[in-house]
Amino acid sequence: MKIATVVGARPQFIKAAVINRVINRTNGIEEILIHTGQHYDENMSKIFFDELEIPKPNYNLEVGSGLHGKQTATMLERIENVLISEKPDLLLVYGDTNSTIAGALAATKLHIKVAHVEAGLRSFNKKMPEEINRIVTDSISDMLFAPTQNALNLLKLENHSENAFFTGDVMFDSILHYSSIAGKGQDISKIINEDYYLATVHRAENTDDKQRLQAIFDAFSQADKKVILPLHPRTQKLLEGINFNENVKIIEPVGYLEMINLIKNSNKILTDSGGLQKEAFFMKKPCITLRDETEWVETLQGNWNFVVGTDTEKIVEKLKNNHFSEQKSHFGDGKAGEKIIELILQKM
Ligand code: UD1
Ligand code: UDP
Repeated sequence: MKIATVVGARPQFIKAAVINRVINRTNGIEEILIHTGQHYDENMSKIFFDELEIPKPNYNLEVGSGLHGKQTATMLERIENVLISEKPDLLLVYGDTNSTIAGALAATKLHIKVAHVEAGLRSFNKKMPEEINRIVTDSISDMLFAPTQNALNLLKLENHSENAFFTGDVMFDSILHYSSIAGKGQDISKIINEDYYLATVHRAENTDDKQRLQAIFDAFSQADKKVILPLHPRTQKLLEGINFNENVKIIEPVGYLEMINLIKNSNKILTDSGGLQKEAFFMKKPCITLRDETEWVETLQGNWNFVVGTDTEKIVEKLKNNHFSEQKSHFGDGKAGEKIIELILQKM
């Protein structure tokens, strides 16, 4: 069986690495890797291929940045060309980025089956580009792999009972696999040797609204510990006019192994990232989510995650909470990758 995988953005490299490892141990599957080029800086792309030992993409479509319409349309056109010449049996897409929707749409129009990893997530906020990407991708995919029972239930409510399956979350597999490896080589003492909070900010709803972005940076400036902020290039480009003090330590985006170490050694996490909310939960670090809603509702149980939006006072207040209850397991058994490949082999 020939599987074409479409990736393009940082979190997709991490997710695809999990499935790639399983495919490599499975007889009878060939994988063609298509990188749309949505993320292209060395520390947003190449570093993940190197660290996670993902094979060099068979195709790099070099689409780059742009407005949603142009970026998605260029991907669609270039992915279509590759699919016509490669004729895969199945296309695999991950998550909710423009690369996800472009891959799914290109394949389905060519009558190539589509499998969506991380299906069924909903924020119920259609202003988020990710929400549109997820809804459309789920509605045209042939196989839907839900990372949580909640995601599976949402797919059932949308009449996807026949083709939706609970598999667990490939990002949980990934943390289990890499956290022991990460501990060995990565020295973060050059970044910080005191108690700190780890933060990331990149969501359009925060970066593209100066008031929200300033309120977040005000909270970082007022926090009672240093805030380490590996900064997404999108946010870096929009920092002009945003005020903050020396409590905020901005660093370049880091590789995944370094990130795992930064999470491990942090006191708490502040983020608007989907992936990082989960990683905080997996690694038992309290999280404060700088958004007005979360798709990852499981992480809210037991005070492990608070959705606070961008209210400076609320963010600073929640940093003081230190009461948590025991976690339940929601994200599978660390074998989501194996389950996904098993299901594909069974159903195709
Ligand atoms: C994208 C996804 C988002 C995901 C995030 C992961 C969409 C609509 N959004 O957001 O869901 O959470 O990736 O990180 O697909 N840029 C660079 N260098 C790069 C990449 C981006 O400078 O290598 C800058 C460019 O100015 C670009 C901006 O970041 O315009 C935004 O990049 P883009 O890929 O469009 O969206 P993200 O914000 O990264
Ligand atoms: N990440 C990383 N280096 C960084 C910031 C994040 O390796 O400097 C990892 C993070 O640990 C998680 C993933 O990137 O595994 C999350 O990606 P991102 O926040 O860009 O996207 P989202 O999950 O919000 O779609």
